[in-house]
Amino acid sequence: MKVVGTYPQTRLRRNRKNDWSRRLVQEKTLTPSDLIWPLFICEGKNIKEPIKTMPGIYRYSLDKIETLIEKALKYGIPMVALFPNTPAHKKDVVGSEALNKNNLICKALRLIKNKNRNIGIMCDVALDPYTSHGHDGLIKNNYVQNDETIKILIKQSLLQAKMGCDVIAPSDMMDGRIGEIRKALDKNGFKLVQILSYAVKYASSFYGPFRDAVGSKKALKSNKKNYQMDFRNKNEAIREVSLDIKEGADFVMVKPGMPYLDIIKTVKENFKIPVFAYQVSGEYSLIKNAINKGIINEDAIIESLYSFKRAGANAIVTYFADVVAKKLNK
Ligand code: PBG
Repeated sequence: MKVVGTYPQTRLRRNRKNDWSRRLVQEKTLTPSDLIWPLFICEGKNIKEPIKTMPGIYRYSLDKIETLIEKALKYGIPMVALFPNTPAHKKDVVGSEALNKNNLICKALRLIKNKNRNIGIMCDVALDPYTSHGHDGLIKNNYVQNDETIKILIKQSLLQAKMGCDVIAPSDMMDGRIGEIRKALDKNGFKLVQILSYAVKYASSFYGPFRDAVGSKKALKSNKKNYQMDFRNKNEAIREVSLDIKEGADFVMVKPGMPYLDIIKTVKENFKIPVFAYQVSGEYSLIKNAINKGIINEDAIIESLYSFKRAGANAIVTYFADVVAKKLNK
C-alpha cells in the first residue's frame, strides 16, 4: 500500500474534529448481533452465586435461566453459550455425567427450548466439566486418548442435539472429531444442527477463571498442552481450520481472543468462513478488575471488542455481552 498525501495539504485531524464527522468515516460497527453470551449454570434453586475470579459474573440455578434468556432477547443478543458447574460427586474418570439426559445442560436446553424463540443456544462438547481429572477426554497411560474420546463426544453431541441444542461446539481439540460428529448428526436426523468448531484453541493461562467457574480448576493437575495448541504457532492454526472446514464445520472459533488477533486475521483472510473470537475468562477478569480498581474506565470494554471486529471476527463470545448489548441499544 502506497501512502498518498502530505502535510499540510493533508490533515487527518480534519475528519476527526466533530462527532458527526467521526461517525461518517467510521470503518467498523459493533452491534448486539455480534455478541454471544456465555452463561454458567448450577444445581439448586434460586441461586445467583458469585464467581470469585470473575467479578460481576455468576452461576445461576435453572429457575433463573428464563430471565436471562428474556434479557438476551430484549437486547438482541443472537446466541447464548451454556456451561455447567457439575457438583464434584457427579464427576468420574470417564465423565459419565456428560451423557446423562438429566444433566444440567440437558435440563437447561429443555427449559429454554420449550418455547419457540429467536435465539440460538450453543453447547460445548468436551468432557472437562464432567471428569474428576478436569481433562477434556479419556486418559490412558497418562495421555488424553483421541479416538476413544471421540466416541463419547459423538454421544454427547447427539444428546445435546436431541435436547434442542442449535449449535454444537466441540471445544476438546481431538483430531477428527468434527467429521465424526457431523456424520453422526446427519445419520440421526440432525442435518441442520450447526457445528461451531473451536478449531484454533490454544493451551492458555487465560482460561484460569473459567475453570474456577465450572469447578474443574482444583481437579486439573497438569496442563492441556498435548491437545490444545502451542501459543508459539500460527501455521498450525491454518491446518486446524482447514481440516475442520473439510470435516463440515459451519463456523470456526479462535480462542483466546485479544492475545490472538493475528490468528483471527490470518484465518479470516485464508478461509471465507464465519470466524468467531472468544474473549475468554482471563481477558474478562483483567479488564473488569482494572475497571473496578479505577485503573481504566469502562469504555475499555467496547474498545476491546472493536479489536476483534478489525481483525475480522464475525461475532465475539464475551462475558460482557449483556452489559455491552444494553449500552449499544441506548
Ligand atoms: C472447555 C472449555 C474451556 C473454555 C471454554 N470451554 C476451558 C479449557 O479448555 O480448559 C475456556 C473459556 C474461558 O476461559 O472463558 N473445554
